[in-house]
Amino acid sequence: MCSINLLRILKKEFIASIMQTTIQKEQVSNKETLLTPRFYTTDFEEMASMNISENEQDFFAILEEFRADYNSQHFIRDEEFNQSWANLEDKTKSLFIEFLERSCTAEFSGFLLYKELSRKLKDSNPIIAECFLLMSRDEARHAGFLNKAIGDFNLSLDLGFLTKSRKYTFFSPKFIFYATYLSEKIGYWRYITIYRHMEQYPEHRIYPIFKFFENWCQDENRHGDFFAALLKSQPHFLNDWKAKMWCRFFLLSVFATMYLNDFQRVDFYNAIGLDSRQYDMQVIRKTNESAARVFPVALDVDNPKFFKYLDSCACNNRALIDIDKQNFLPFVKTFIKGPLYMSLMLNLIKIYLIKPIDSQAVWNTVR
Ligand SMILES: [Fe+2]
Ligand SMILES: [Fe+2]
Repeated sequence: MCSINLLRILKKEFIASIMQTTIQKEQVSNKETLLTPRFYTTDFEEMASMNISENEQDFFAILEEFRADYNSQHFIRDEEFNQSWANLEDKTKSLFIEFLERSCTAEFSGFLLYKELSRKLKDSNPIIAECFLLMSRDEARHAGFLNKAIGDFNLSLDLGFLTKSRKYTFFSPKFIFYATYLSEKIGYWRYITIYRHMEQYPEHRIYPIFKFFENWCQDENRHGDFFAALLKSQPHFLNDWKAKMWCRFFLLSVFATMYLNDFQRVDFYNAIGLDSRQYDMQVIRKTNESAARVFPVALDVDNPKFFKYLDSCACNNRALIDIDKQNFLPFVKTFIKGPLYMSLMLNLIKIYLIKPIDSQAVWNTVR
């Protein structure tokens, strides 16, 4: 009797694990939306032709930091990972796996882009090419470490499949610089904010990966500084009215993407003892402050309308997702979703139109 039960349990576990793996692949292949981590490509020739002589010394200094490889021994799993995570509550477990999967995809996307850039710039600009190569080393470590964590839950993200199946978004070098600078800095603030929270409340550390975030986020900070130097080497990317418009656009895009994403994952943040809204507000404020040292404008996040409109966007987005889950006919869905899309877009435009802060006054301040 006992062995029959055991067989049943094993069969159930096996089916559950197959189903989870399948879900994993479906998530990768089918559920790509505007809010999922993206893969980028760019005009490599334009990037290769850039003159960076204006602040060459900065690049030498950054390259020395990358070569020092402060985290070469950091991403080594200790015995704490050996325990079984079967006792984690199912909902928490699936939320946590999703967090690992999204983080791994984002890190891996950085790896692919930086690796390709290092290859394409090798002859025209060996200093920059080596910086990209060493950043791709870091991102590969981050993605690999996350994928091993996913392995603790008997799953694995098929990175080869991901490389081939994902659509690549084309951005000109200028836009790659804005977007990647911001994603590195927001990554830094996300990791360090979670790390500091866990330091204060160790009872919420449901899995050992969080204790690695302190040194890990320093990699992201250095990557962000490299993109800041690239932007400063091209002053026309930062000092005209077009630059101001685009910087506002990218700041808003990156902040809104995170906010809307996290609003759908309130339960995950609750599981680690964080209020997702407060967490996002803190990360947005800090990233906005960091960006103000490089971008000519910062968003006025202290304007009460800023988070009010962002909350409305998040509610619109959640309503859109809820409609998608219903069994309505496609034309009915489109009909109901129309006004919600309009409202979301209108709220984003309203945020964009909030008068930004001229940040050139704080340039050259100590970081
Ligand atoms: Fe990373
Ligand atoms: Fe990075």
